[in-house]
Amino acid sequence: MNLAKEILKSEDEIAERVRQLGRQITADHEGRELSVLGVLKGSFVFLADLIRQIRVPVRVGFLEITQSRKSEFLTEIIFSSSFQVEGTHLLVVEDILDTGITLAYLHQQLETRGPKSIRVCTFLDKPDKRKVDIHPDYVGFPVPNRHVVGYGLDYEGRFRNLPYLTYVE
Ligand code: IMP
Ligand code: MG
Repeated sequence: MNLAKEILKSEDEIAERVRQLGRQITADHEGRELSVLGVLKGSFVFLADLIRQIRVPVRVGFLEITQSRKSEFLTEIIFSSSFQVEGTHLLVVEDILDTGITLAYLHQQLETRGPKSIRVCTFLDKPDKRKVDIHPDYVGFPVPNRHVVGYGLDYEGRFRNLPYLTYVE
């Protein structure tokens, strides 16, 4: 498995897109407090940059979706610390939306906790691979159907620290 030579999105292109998303999210949440919920691990780099471009008050939490110890067919949502969902305006931040199965499950689970609203912001979107009907409110970049790494995204745990986006081949 090697890194492609070609750069998919440069550091500058990413920074400019993140600024635009921050402006859009700010405009959509004027006068509100926003509860930003990052899906670990892939979203942490994007989330760190994104929240610094949002100009309304934010609270930040993280969760991880893991396989349940009870059954390999069950998944569990583990919050990294207590985080209030009830009565908040939630912004779920993902690294990449692929089949959409993870996010659809998460959305459904979060809804049972009674937030005022749920919006989804994904840094990358692979619309060709979608298996469930889910429409993110904010998308950084659509990407082709290849394995993307960098800016938080990994291949077998590696390459999250690349400041730009590329592929593995
Ligand atoms: P899905 O939308 O339920 O299929 O799950 C998407 C998850 O798979 C993401 O949150 C990533 O963790 C991982 N993933 C999918 N495509 C890629 C990729 O191209 N690079 C790195 N991780 C990926
Ligand atoms: Mg993810």
